Amino acid sequence: MSDLDHLVCVAKQSRENAHAAYSNFRVGAALRATSGRVFGGCNVENATYGLTVCAERVAIFKAISEGERGFDAIAVVTDSDTLTPPCGACRQLIWEFCGDIPVALSNLKGKTEVHQMRDLFPKPFDASNL
Ligand code: THU
Repeated sequence: MSDLDHLVCVAKQSRENAHAAYSNFRVGAALRATSGRVFGGCNVENATYGLTVCAERVAIFKAISEGERGFDAIAVVTDSDTLTPPCGACRQLIWEFCGDIPVALSNLKGKTEVHQMRDLFPKPFDASNL
């Protein structure tokens, strides 16, 4: 199994923990650190909607809070025929912490696409602009 396939498997497992009581749209993510550790995440919704946190950001915050810096790849899994790319807020965070990594998008039927962050997030605002 390739590293990206493994990441998709972890994202699929993490999706099982999604708290998507309002949208019923369950998302799983998995982020691989350069240390080799893999961090799963799922979306966690809230009755005030705006406090919802996406699966990708949960995975990133878990990793950062565990002291990880430097990441190789991220995977996002949903149960939709059209694969789910990271939302705008997550793209900003992925770029900030991970840079131009591959983003594997996958669904439960096994359809997978891999995109580079520079293609998903052209002309970013980041530390180089400050
Ligand atoms: N969601 C994610 O977790 N990641 C994305 O990249 C897209 C959207 C979640 C947020 C919310 O819980 C649900 O999907 C519907 O927007």
